Amino acid sequence: MLVGDDSTVHRLDSRHALRKFTQEIEKSLMVRESMSSRTLSSPFAENQQPLAHPSFTIAVIGDVHDQWEPDDEAALHHLNVDLVLFVGDFGNESVDVVKAIAQIDLPKAVILGNHDAWYNATQWGRSRCPYDAKTENRVQQQLDLLGNAHVGYGKLDFPKLNLTVVGGRPFSWGGPDWKNKTFYRTWYGVNSFEESVEKMNQAVDSAAFETLLFVGHCGPTGLGDRPESTCGRDWRPIGGDYGDPDLTETIAYAQSLGKQIPLVTFGHMHHNLRHRKDRVRDRLVVGSPEAKTPTVYLNAASVPRIKEEAGKSLRNMTLVTLEAGQIAQAALVWTDERGAIATEDILYESPRSLASLH
Ligand SMILES: [Fe+2]
Repeated sequence: MLVGDDSTVHRLDSRHALRKFTQEIEKSLMVRESMSSRTLSSPFAENQQPLAHPSFTIAVIGDVHDQWEPDDEAALHHLNVDLVLFVGDFGNESVDVVKAIAQIDLPKAVILGNHDAWYNATQWGRSRCPYDAKTENRVQQQLDLLGNAHVGYGKLDFPKLNLTVVGGRPFSWGGPDWKNKTFYRTWYGVNSFEESVEKMNQAVDSAAFETLLFVGHCGPTGLGDRPESTCGRDWRPIGGDYGDPDLTETIAYAQSLGKQIPLVTFGHMHHNLRHRKDRVRDRLVVGSPEAKTPTVYLNAASVPRIKEEAGKSLRNMTLVTLEAGQIAQAALVWTDERGAIATEDILYESPRSLASLH
């Protein structure tokens, strides 16, 4: 069962500030709890496990498209985020942007998007390559810069957060056809959706933790086939599910293993629709809301990432609060020049979280 974000509400800072404040109190209590347990002398206290699922904040950065400045990193630090997820499309093989992302001193996971192989993935792109592809390989440069932080066809364990981030198919263009055959064969030895599923399932198998977050450039199929759907096609021929079918298969595989999947996040299909301007795309879908751990499917592609208002720059990200291994809240926020939240648009609040606030 899926629930869209029609009930989206617009509110200013206060609720986020309250939540952040509450989280800080909880965090400090956890630290104090673990500190006090270390002061006890019994062997039982020595063997106590860390709290399995502390509360923390994830920042999801939607398609960057060359809009990344020092203030963006400053905002991440200002907001005290615990993990940053980048869903790709930094620019058209914009190595300098990827270099800036790679050096961010925060726990992070990145997947590269179709624009990050713009001059390599297709014949159309190769014919327009603005640099000498015989002497320079900008896809490789981006992969080298990111190293382990790139989770495309892989995973990254975060022991302090008790979770594993699993990457979808890197450089994806989305849709039901197996595209860019030469590119995927050359770079990954993958020749079909089936082989792609196999590769992602191996990443799931190697995850160190039971809680998985999925990061794709494109979202999975199954979230709707209207042009306004989370991964719906909004260009001609209009309509149709333009998600990645292989990602859907791998998520189902992880579920069959009993993994908890609170979040699947991605970009690619921008919030602003091409065929109508009276609304934006459905940005968030909740899968199995009655389940112990509902899965929040989040499209983070609010493009452009930076906008000017009253002579000042505002920049967006989606803040996701994870409490006890479940999503408590997801909100698209715009930060000001101090890195503080200027506005927020709450996309999701868990029923449990709402109950605790009233
Ligand atoms: Fe894209």
